[in-house]
Amino acid sequence: MRPETVFITGASSGIGLELAHVFAREGYNVVGVAQNDVQLRDAMRGLEHEYGVKTWPLVQNLTARNAVEKIDEFLHAEKIHVDVVINNAGFGVFGEFIQTDWEDHKELLDLNIVSLTELTKYFAQRMAKRGGGKILNVASIASFFPGVFMDTYYASKAYVLSFSLALAEELRPKGVQVSVLCPGPTRSNFETRAHATRSKLFGRAGDARKVAEVALKGVQNNKLIIIPGTRNKLNVFMSRFIPRKWLAPLVRRAN
Ligand SMILES: NC(=O)c1ccc[n+]([C@@H]2O[C@H](COP(=O)([O-])OP(=O)(O)OC[C@H]3O[C@@H](n4cnc5c(N)ncnc54)[C@H](OP(=O)(O)O)[C@@H]3O)[C@@H](O)[C@H]2O)c1
Repeated sequence: MRPETVFITGASSGIGLELAHVFAREGYNVVGVAQNDVQLRDAMRGLEHEYGVKTWPLVQNLTARNAVEKIDEFLHAEKIHVDVVINNAGFGVFGEFIQTDWEDHKELLDLNIVSLTELTKYFAQRMAKRGGGKILNVASIASFFPGVFMDTYYASKAYVLSFSLALAEELRPKGVQVSVLCPGPTRSNFETRAHATRSKLFGRAGDARKVAEVALKGVQNNKLIIIPGTRNKLNVFMSRFIPRKWLAPLVRRAN
């Protein structure tokens, strides 16, 4: 039987890199996407040495206009058949909305929403045609809250959750599984890239490997919404009983 292949965006660091590790440990070959050539190639080489799997580093800015075309060309040229897609690449912008740069927010929306949606469409069409495949979209517990001082980030993750839930329902009869991962604050490069070192959120940040292990189990068990950690599950559960207009002041204090 041919080994299965997982395609992971943002596979060079943080949660994406740990997802690459746990899937490689299970015997999956890995196509990893990121922008930093050296870091990505090092990460993929590490997987080959540790687990004896095959890897393909694909250096690509996912917000580039022709990103999906380039990915399509690469997969065809290398004759790669993708079984599992993990749309993980994403970042946040921390700060008062009116004080932060529009260009940063635009890039965030392009990566967290537009690129994720286009890649999902690209893979979902092919998976539906052959009647099988799995898609894991990385949202956040932020998906369940209005994000004061990270307004566009939380809103982008609410989109990822809503989009994935709807798509899961559409694709289920076609044999394609869609899951959505909602981690809480996790140690990675996220905090630095979001300029969120003043935020209180990361004081109790969790471990990216633990997030990846829970995600793997969730995908294997065909779970729809995967929330790693008891505290995160509890926060999401409690949010259902709080009037929406009270959520933003609560988040303001937490952020
Ligand atoms: N850390 C948290 O607290 C947390 C909590 C909930 C959800 N999440 C979500 O988890 C996902 C992974 O975040 P992380 O915490 O692991 O952050 P991270 O350590 O900063 O990793 C982000 C990854 O995405 C890649 N990337 C960023 N922009 C890209 C672009 N334009 N094109 C291609 N690749 C790009 C990065 O590589 P390059 O820089 O080389 O491009 C890196 O591999 C994100 O969707 C994030 O929103 C994180």
